[in-house]
Amino acid sequence: MRRDRWLPPFSFPLVSLLLAACSGAPPVPAPAPAEPPRSSDYIAALPEGEIRRQVILGCTPCHQLGTPAAHKQTLEEWRAAIARMKQIDDHLDLALIQLEAEPLAQWLAKHARMPAQGRTVQTASADIREYPAGPKSGFYHDMALAGGKAWLADYFGNKLYGIDTGTGTVESYDIPVNVPAGKPGGAHQIDTTRDGMLWITFTKSEQVMRFDPRTKTFRVYDGFEKGGNVQYFVVDADRNVYQDERGGIWMTHFSREILSRLDPKTGKITVHKTPRTAHMKEKGVHLYAAVADSKGRLWYTETHGNRFGMLDPRTDKAWEVDMPEKYVGPKRLAIDKDDVLWIPELATGKITVYDTRRRKIVDRLTLPIPGDFPYAIRRNPHTGDLWVTGSGSDSLYRLDPKTKKIAIYRLPRTGAYTRTVSFAENGDIWTNYASFPNTHTRMPFEAGVVVRLRPR
Ligand code: HEC
Repeated sequence: MRRDRWLPPFSFPLVSLLLAACSGAPPVPAPAPAEPPRSSDYIAALPEGEIRRQVILGCTPCHQLGTPAAHKQTLEEWRAAIARMKQIDDHLDLALIQLEAEPLAQWLAKHARMPAQGRTVQTASADIREYPAGPKSGFYHDMALAGGKAWLADYFGNKLYGIDTGTGTVESYDIPVNVPAGKPGGAHQIDTTRDGMLWITFTKSEQVMRFDPRTKTFRVYDGFEKGGNVQYFVVDADRNVYQDERGGIWMTHFSREILSRLDPKTGKITVHKTPRTAHMKEKGVHLYAAVADSKGRLWYTETHGNRFGMLDPRTDKAWEVDMPEKYVGPKRLAIDKDDVLWIPELATGKITVYDTRRRKIVDRLTLPIPGDFPYAIRRNPHTGDLWVTGSGSDSLYRLDPKTKKIAIYRLPRTGAYTRTVSFAENGDIWTNYASFPNTHTRMPFEAGVVVRLRPR
């Protein structure tokens, strides 16, 4: 039996109206229409604490947990599902699920319950358009805008898709990844340098590529640390891939506590070490995202290591600090023009605000939807606003860095798991449905999907 049905609209408000009438209480105001339960509601209903945070860290990097698709009821069902998830995790060599299978299955069987309906929140209005591209079996981690197109890359299918942002017409390119036929290249981050070139990391083929959207040609860079899982380009406050004063591009590695520097002209790669996070295996630390400040220092997060740090390329030295609480899971951070870091905490739904000039945490914000797990914060270079992915609540948040006010923009699908936000000069906001598996996003398209959100 499925448990993800919610009550028919208005059944809950009707009951409360009747109760109010019987008790002689004043009539309650007209209720908002019932919301479907979302992954954030499912998570909000779990007991807060270190176990819940570790569950979020292990179970939400690929897809939402709970509604709409990833839920079970009995201990046996959870055991089977978790065994399968550990297999997928091992197969892709990610070391994401770090809790032991049996206690995890017991904890979920005891505590995980499908809420009858979702939480109602006030949302800001937007005109939203969805653009399908690529096969439904693909996994589309990120998107970026370049040359009048929105770009998606398929992690498994090794194809790049360019979607015309006006007409929705799709063109596709075979990506020259160095893997046997049928194996994933692992296309991960897609972003652009200031000159409008697309850059893509390939976690499985251990490559980086530059794609010129005008000439439609790839330049391939090989020679990264083997088994390092090349992951994420260092980005700057303008949301571009960062280039140092000699044109160098930097990237993190998911499975090693290092950053690499690539000289795009010569292809030369240098490796830069960061401190070992001693209490964990290196592969499980997950040095993930990084940003560059105005002095060229590189600030990075360790998601499972639960720290953030700074590598100074001038001295080639790095130091790290712990996040303010255990297991908060710092993920894709942003930096603003005042060199302040905005670090999303995947496992708490909070944002740590860290001033790199004063070397201190100056604020810790809480997202307005409980149970949400924000994967990324991106800074809109045109307005200075910060956009946060509401990866568990099917939404995007706009955060005003001055007033710290947060507006919620709801995406039109449940399971709308997002990992990035891009910004067009005309004010349009872009993202894509990035669930692995893609089919956990409940949508009428048999495809990957990029989404254009135009705030009203
Ligand atoms: C490395 C990526 C990854 C991680 C991490 C992951 N999953 Fe999954 N999950 C998948 C994929 C892929 C599917 C769909 C394919 C399948 O069911 O075999 C899936 C499907 C599911 C389903 C639906 C299965 C069904 O029978 O309908 C459940 C439940 C689930 N995941 C729970 C979890 C839990 C709990 C965790 C954390 C312990 C987790 N997942 C972590 C990738 C992942």
